[in-house]
Parts: sequence; C-alpha cells; structure tokens
Amino acid sequence: GDLRLRKYEGFWYLEHLLAPTLAMRDTFVARPTDIILATTPKSGTTWLKALVFCVVHRGRHAPADERHPLLSSSPHDAVPFLHSIYENHLSAPPGPLLEEMPSPRILAVHTPFTALPASVRESACRVVYLCRDPKDVLVSLYHYVDKIRPEGSGTMTPFAEAFDLFCDGVVAFGPMWDNMAGYWKESVARPEEVMFLRYEDLKEDTVGTVRRLAAFLGCPFTDEEEAEGSGAAAEIVALCSMDKMRSVQANRDGTHGNGGSCFKNSAFFRKGEVGDWKAHMTPEMARRLDAIVEEKLRGSGLSMIGNDP
Ligand code: A3P
Repeated sequence: GDLRLRKYEGFWYLEHLLAPTLAMRDTFVARPTDIILATTPKSGTTWLKALVFCVVHRGRHAPADERHPLLSSSPHDAVPFLHSIYENHLSAPPGPLLEEMPSPRILAVHTPFTALPASVRESACRVVYLCRDPKDVLVSLYHYVDKIRPEGSGTMTPFAEAFDLFCDGVVAFGPMWDNMAGYWKESVARPEEVMFLRYEDLKEDTVGTVRRLAAFLGCPFTDEEEAEGSGAAAEIVALCSMDKMRSVQANRDGTHGNGGSCFKNSAFFRKGEVGDWKAHMTPEMARRLDAIVEEKLRGSGLSMIGNDP
C-alpha cells in the first residue's frame, strides 16, 4: 500500500484515494436499501463487515453452515470498499458494476461524513459507523503499517514520531476526532438512518450489539431464530470471532484491492483487545492524546473517555 497523505477540505486522504473519493462523491447513487459501513481505519472494519454480512444474508447462508461464504473468502471480498471500487474504475465509471450488485448492497467507506455522496447523506439508506479509542487505533495502525510496508523500505518511524503526527490529526481520513464528530452529529440528528458504534461496545457485548444492528437494519432476529441451536446472533458472533476469521485460508494467504491499494488480509488480524495502548504509550502520552480528543469533541456530546477495561 502507498501511504502518502494529502489534505483536502480539512481531512487527510491517502493520496491515491483522493480522486476516487471525489468521483464517488460526485457520481454514486445510493439505493434506499443500501447499507454503508463507515469506519475509521483500524477500528474494527473487518469485523464489522463480517458481522453485518452474516446478519443481512443469514436467510441465504446459515451462520453455522460450513459452506458459509466467510469460510472461503475474506470479509473484504464480501463487503468491498466503495472508494476502492472507484479506484479500480477511474477511467470508466463503475456504474454498471454497482448497478448490477443485488440489493441490499453492503459497501464500506472510511470517508468523512461530509465527503460522502449526497445520495448517501440524504437518502433512506442505512449508515453504520464504527470508531474506537484513538489510543488503540494508533497502536493498531502502527503495527499494521509495519506489517504492510514494502520489504527494504528501511526502519519504521519511531512510535514517538507517529504519536506526534497522530496528535496533530495527521492520519488517513483524519483528524480522527473530526471523522467521529461528523458521524456522531448525524446519528443524533437521524438515528433511524445512522447508527454510531464503538469497538469497545462491540467487544463488551458482541451478541447484544449484533441484535441491535439487525434491528437497526430492519431485519431483527425473531424469537424463533434465537431459540434455534445456540441462537442465531450467538452463531454469527462465533463465526466472526477473531480466532475463527484468522484461521480462514483467504484471511491467512489472500489479498484484496489492487493498483495503489493491495493489502494482505492477514494484516487485519492482530490482537483485537481493548487497551493495548498500555503496552506502547506512557501514561503521559495517553493523557496528552486523551486531552486533545476531549478538547476537540467538547460540546459535541460525544466522549471517548471511560472505555478502559
Ligand atoms: P488490533 O491491531 O488492536 O489487534 P480494521 O479492520 O479496521 O483494519 O481494524 C483492525 C483491528 O481490528 C485490529 O486491532 C484487529 O486485530 C481487530 N480485529 C480484526 N478482526 C477482529 C475480530 N474478528 N474481532 C475483534 N477484533 C478484530
């Protein structure tokens, strides 16, 4: 992956994704049945993709079925990034490809809310937003960049330097607090269409959150479904667990994307814990980043404090 950043309308973009993002904003036409998964990178995107795919398609693919698509393909294949679809079709618009996708289409973005296509912001389509404690995001990102950087690209930027940049808001699709605040505001204004989730909530009560997701997406679990086996929601959670997902061949050896963005699927599975920042940050660094985040979010009604285990 190419990780050079460029600032545009207040947000940092991976340079090779800026043109595709603008093409997406200008030409994508949402269907009322579309489901958009919006996340900040390293906040659990891969996990959310798997969970929502299972919830939405559980009628066709029982979560306990050993031929379930997520046991032979990556969540990134099941739920593509919309900006990557545009990236692969910059010279010819991906219209036909997107038009042929059966409803409900599930598509992912990291795009800030204000840079989404107008039809997504204004139509009845559902947006599920997932973010995470910025301290854990930074640690996750640091390990991720280390894993995906090309061989022979020299030594890693020291963590302290990456930390300073992050505190200045310099991160793909960031500043992270502005990305979060944009979706938070929208979820307060339009709770029927925009659902705001944190990785920490998902970890603490995965089954409960999956039930809430299903209800939000208009396909709540029935009592009957919940009474079968260990319960449909619990079966989905088990299928999408870190251990299960990590062991799938497509997630061990596969890649997704191409061109400027080709990613090893294995790089998306690391520890999956809340509070791993403690192994990398001094209490002083944590206090500094927390203070920045709380200051930036002040008045929004959103706070990231109090998530620690
Ligand atoms: P860590 O690096 O802290 O372990 P994204 O998918 O947005 O890139 O986020 C990656 C983060 O989600 C990584 O966090 C990864 O380990 C974690 N993750 C991936 N799959 C997961 C799963 N099934 N359950 C919980 N966490 C998961």
